[in-house]
Amino acid sequence: MKFFVDSADVAAIAELNALGMVDGVTTNPSLILKSGRNILEVTREICELVAGPVSAEVVAAKADDMIEEGRKLAEIAPNITVKVPLTWDGLKACKVLTDEGRMVNVTLCFSVNQALLAAKAGATFISPFIGRLDDINLDGLELIADIRQVYDNYDFQTEVLAASIRTPNHVAQCARIGADVITAPPAVIKGLANHVLTDKGLEMFDADWAKTGQTILSL
Ligand code: E4P
Repeated sequence: MKFFVDSADVAAIAELNALGMVDGVTTNPSLILKSGRNILEVTREICELVAGPVSAEVVAAKADDMIEEGRKLAEIAPNITVKVPLTWDGLKACKVLTDEGRMVNVTLCFSVNQALLAAKAGATFISPFIGRLDDINLDGLELIADIRQVYDNYDFQTEVLAASIRTPNHVAQCARIGADVITAPPAVIKGLANHVLTDKGLEMFDADWAKTGQTILSL
């Protein structure tokens, strides 16, 4: 399973990238706002840092305008993935941009039927949002499992990019289900290393080691 970082924070992306944890990056208008940066500049910096796909989102509502924005964003770097919303106009833009040979991530997906349409429009990635479904008491992980099954039934090549990931459990369950990619904020990715028994075990080892009176480097 590939790990994408859901962030426009260059320093946080760089930290994870240095550990080999970053297969790609996703951004959206809210993350650009949070970064406080110019979208073209910050996205270019991210593309220079990360070799894999970097999603940059269009903001227009009409297909023709989305296509123009998508082409402009795609000029930033060869690894740009144009992100379009799952609306009818977004699907039209997806078809045109993928026919031009560009990578397209169809975002804001909340149903299997939407995911089917994105695959038929040639999407490179479909982004179902787990956390936002959970927020309204629906089951985001069930949607990932359903899309996985439907795509496999018909051998669709669109990659399932599980988004709106909020917890380490979302990541583990996506891996069990067989999502192709997860995109998560840096804090969630770093949090995957945590386990209460790891902390407890280390405390015990530290206490016992102190009692030996030894230091490895002075032996
Ligand atoms: C995905 O591409 C989105 O940018 C993101 O995962 C949304 O997550 P949120 O629901 O936590 O804002």
